Amino acid sequence: MHRILSVLCFWLACTFVGDAAAQEFSSKPVMVTVPFAAGGPADVIARILAHGMSKALDQQFVVENTSGAGGTIGTAKVAASLPDGHSLLLMHVSHAANVAFYPHLRYDPVKDFEPTGLVAESPMAFVARKDFPANNFKEFVAYVKANTEKMTHGFAGVGSASHLCSLLFLHAIDATVSGAPYKGTAPALNDLMGGHLDFMCDQTLNVLQPAKAGLIKAYAATTPQRLKVAADLPTVSESGLPGFQMVVWYAMYAPKGTPKPVIDRLSGALQKALQDPEVKERLAQSGAETVAPERARPEVLRAHLISEIDKWVPIIKKAGVLSQ
Ligand code: MLT
Repeated sequence: MHRILSVLCFWLACTFVGDAAAQEFSSKPVMVTVPFAAGGPADVIARILAHGMSKALDQQFVVENTSGAGGTIGTAKVAASLPDGHSLLLMHVSHAANVAFYPHLRYDPVKDFEPTGLVAESPMAFVARKDFPANNFKEFVAYVKANTEKMTHGFAGVGSASHLCSLLFLHAIDATVSGAPYKGTAPALNDLMGGHLDFMCDQTLNVLQPAKAGLIKAYAATTPQRLKVAADLPTVSESGLPGFQMVVWYAMYAPKGTPKPVIDRLSGALQKALQDPEVKERLAQSGAETVAPERARPEVLRAHLISEIDKWVPIIKKAGVLSQ
């Protein structure tokens, strides 16, 4: 009981708990688990946010990567963590999609977490190795279709955003291509730049800079409109696959049982961080956008997550992509 009170009082800045207890918690960092490899889009977003939330709460935030199995390993770790306000998960659309990809998940994405808030939306783009023999998205599609047996696409494990995007694309063009799973798109991008993979659908956060530097080719963005930061990059929709869209939404969660006042305080810090010009600017540079602070609330995220599970499960089942 004293421990629970101490946790609550640290987070709420109560004055009636002894100094020793307050000191114990104030010196303990908040761990933000990223369920994908270091250096990739989720990791970058987590580090930018952790910095912003750390400023907002005057508290140390530490980012830790626990990658593998499309983000489900790190997610399961947070679900099993102590619900004391010192464990957070930064996860994206795959928190919803993995329900379809993994029928025997070790956690329930809704019941085993306390939603803290939506964070950002991150667009994707189709990219290929720099010597890929196609000069635009139409040629890219034609070449993939004509050479399926020779192609390998890279992705961040079954159920990841890059997996989902490539599978929906291959379903749309009626092609089957073998895929190479990685623990995140950072290592996959390295192999694409090295010419060991043919293509990927990855977040612009990861691929815009190497594309600008000529290390890979970028063909089209998965957004409804062209990106402000890459206006010369066409959309998939305008390039022959009308209606093809995929935006990766990110959110933050705590383990089930984290006290509501603690969640409210963390959510408040998240909302503050999302209004920090430095945070907004660093995400905007790569095409990502922070959500409006009123969307970074627990109840908004809960409703969004449920609606995304309802949306993705039938799409994934219809595309028949569960076993690919
Ligand atoms: C990552 O950070 O590596 C990506 O978010 C993985 C993905 O494609 O889902």
